[in-house]
Amino acid sequence: MIVLGIESSCDETAASIVQNGTDILSSVVASQIDVHNKYGGVVPELASRMHIEAITPVVDEAIKKANIKIEDIAAVAATRGPGLIGALLVGFCFAKSFAWARQLPLAGVNHLEAHIYSLFLMDKKPAFPFIALVVSGGHTNIYHVTSYDHFELLGQTRDDAAGEAFDKVAKMLGLGYPGGPIIEILAKTKDPGAISFPRTLLEKGSFDFSFSGLKSSVARYIHNNNISSKDEKAQVAASFQEAVIDVLSQKLMNAAQYKKCNHIGITGGVSANKTFVDKLSCKSKDKNIEIFAPSADLCGDNAAMVAARGYTMIQQGNTCRLDHDVFSKTRID
Ligand code: KG4
Ligand code: ZN
Repeated sequence: MIVLGIESSCDETAASIVQNGTDILSSVVASQIDVHNKYGGVVPELASRMHIEAITPVVDEAIKKANIKIEDIAAVAATRGPGLIGALLVGFCFAKSFAWARQLPLAGVNHLEAHIYSLFLMDKKPAFPFIALVVSGGHTNIYHVTSYDHFELLGQTRDDAAGEAFDKVAKMLGLGYPGGPIIEILAKTKDPGAISFPRTLLEKGSFDFSFSGLKSSVARYIHNNNISSKDEKAQVAASFQEAVIDVLSQKLMNAAQYKKCNHIGITGGVSANKTFVDKLSCKSKDKNIEIFAPSADLCGDNAAMVAARGYTMIQQGNTCRLDHDVFSKTRID
């Protein structure tokens, strides 16, 4: 079964053709980063307008690159939420029209479940049950995944998402957007233990996160120490990154122990951070826990993961009607 996947929840317009839920025939991502970069973050109205311009050429390109005919597409899957409403509407309405015109089933995919499905697109997949982290600019959620359809939310951020903290710290240091990759490169040259930023672990046994205290602490440090040279910024970047990695790793290991899982999957934009993957892998080795992460092209927003999730939904008859709407807030259903 060939599925057309569509993603437009934030600042990437993406389309992908995936066969039988796992074979990626094409995956096209049109990023809006250059436009939002000027403003130091995503401007929702600009994002919607750019999705409208990009959606048709991106879908055309995905079909062309997959070397298939439009008639070969058996189903459509599009991100329904959570995300920016205006941005979601563009991809979801396009998908509704495409499905209606060609009389195809349409799956309305949860973006967070789609990120977890990026793990199933790899050769080396985690086995059920496993712990999954979705860590991006909008979310820091830990799930206990027991099947292709059961995602038990164990914890989430109470304020900023981890990726958002990377972006905000990068902005404070005048480094540009998105901050994660810039901070990771800059951090490589410095000792991560040089500045001791707080690790907020919240109540004992909690799998929730809070990154706002860390963010304020970094802001205070930058102000009090008049941080301005590239060298000083790199030092702040390294110590900040270490604090985030420590908290994420600790909560993941705790969750794995609590649920007796020996597989952990990390997904979403921040899972592209090699330092995070390496440190987590190192920490998990002596506990006999294996770490799984998507390839770099599947960490951030893409439509292959949407098509993969849509494939299982369509097989179960979990499809959308034309009067179904998008949703903005975190929801797993
Ligand atoms: O999943 P994603 O592409 O979009 C959202 O759904 O948010 O994630 C984007 C986020 C941004 O906050 C970006 O700074 C962060 O992922 N990110 C990283 C890295 N690459 C992207 N954070 C840390 N290290 C990275 N290498
Ligand atoms: Zn995402």
